[in-house]
Amino acid sequence: MTQVTVGIVGLGAMGLGIAQVFAASGAAVRATDLSARMRDQAVAGIAASLDRRVAAGRLSEAERDATLARIAIVERPEDLASCAMVIEAIVEDLGAKAALFATLDGVLDPGAVLASNTSSLSVGALAGATAHPGRVLGLHFFNPAPAMKLVELVAHDGTDPAALALARTLTEAAGKTVIACADRPGFIVNRCARPFYGEALALLEEGRSPAEIDAAMLGAGYRMGPFALIDLVGADVNLAATRSLAGAMGGHPRYHVFDALLRQVESGNLGRKTGRGFLFPDAPGAPPADAAEIVLRIEATLANEAATLLDEGGVTEEGIDTALKLGLNFPRGAFEAARAQGLPAILARLCDLEQAAPAPLAGRYRPSDRLVALGDPARRGGRVDHR
Ligand SMILES: NC(=O)c1ccc[n+]([C@@H]2O[C@H](COP(=O)([O-])OP(=O)(O)OC[C@H]3O[C@@H](n4cnc5c(N)ncnc54)[C@H](O)[C@@H]3O)[C@@H](O)[C@H]2O)c1
Repeated sequence: MTQVTVGIVGLGAMGLGIAQVFAASGAAVRATDLSARMRDQAVAGIAASLDRRVAAGRLSEAERDATLARIAIVERPEDLASCAMVIEAIVEDLGAKAALFATLDGVLDPGAVLASNTSSLSVGALAGATAHPGRVLGLHFFNPAPAMKLVELVAHDGTDPAALALARTLTEAAGKTVIACADRPGFIVNRCARPFYGEALALLEEGRSPAEIDAAMLGAGYRMGPFALIDLVGADVNLAATRSLAGAMGGHPRYHVFDALLRQVESGNLGRKTGRGFLFPDAPGAPPADAAEIVLRIEATLANEAATLLDEGGVTEEGIDTALKLGLNFPRGAFEAARAQGLPAILARLCDLEQAAPAPLAGRYRPSDRLVALGDPARRGGRVDHR
């Protein structure tokens, strides 16, 4: 088999990791960055990452050297013309990515794939910047790319099946688990994760403490509680992601921006990076007596979000569950959790929450038709009003 060449544009945190992933799997990698400093430092950065694997006994020195030898740093995007697939991981800016795609579209072979690692932009909008929108798709890697197994493969309405197949084949050959999804805001993980944080914040506003909410989730097998996760990523980053999704989803109350999060960001206690967060540096205590009730409530809202996404198309139940387990380290996916709890219990909890919801949250808990249908197969396809 001839060696395939994968191109990478943007050699920051994500681009370096993605370059390492493909080179380690045997592909030839050509990579570039607007910044000469980033280009100059790139190979040393990847070497340092590989050296840590060598030190841990997970890679031989010969494998490290062979991986590095497969990486060529080039000056301009035009130097990627020979690539079968180019993945961009540049700044999260539609104008910058669209300009780059227009340039790449002009030099790549007709069969080559143009992939974006965007977390929040519309892949379809990027495709519109090219003369060959069918070759454009999203390949959303997670940070750190060498360690995280999950890649979301994002199809916009006009992505060619052949482009999706090539991107999947190359990315799976690089050892990743590829989950298909549609070009919807937040794709799978960043979308379906919202209630994990949002419902914890709702509970906080009702008087529960971060320590007891996190302890309840840890007791149910989650590796980290919602507040420990917000503290890890940063309350400001969580706020930006929530606001971005709320905007993209028309301000639906499922993506409500809770005052507790706004106040936390205003306080400057953003999490690990500032030395104090919702919970950090404290540890969660023992689970409260009603821990099961907290878990049921959070898992009910996770299931409702997942079912809403399922209804929008382009994803499967199994795909959503796998993405949540690999992308967020959840012990079970949203549908698996709902089935373990029992769908009638999940639906009943949502209906109770909806009835008790204050005005700004009206509609937040209304069970999606899809979730209702999953809970009662006899009614599948029919509309059921659970208001
Ligand atoms: N960091 C994450 O956790 C994460 C996770 C998944 C996806 N993403 C997405 O991946 C992309 C990159 O994120 P990052 O965290 O690696 O960013 P980063 O800031 O670490 O790196 C971006 C790199 O792109 C370069 N660059 C900017 N404009 C360019 C251009 N026009 N042409 C060529 N190079 C250019 C910059 O010099 C920089 O080296 C973004 O779209 C981001 O949303 C990030």
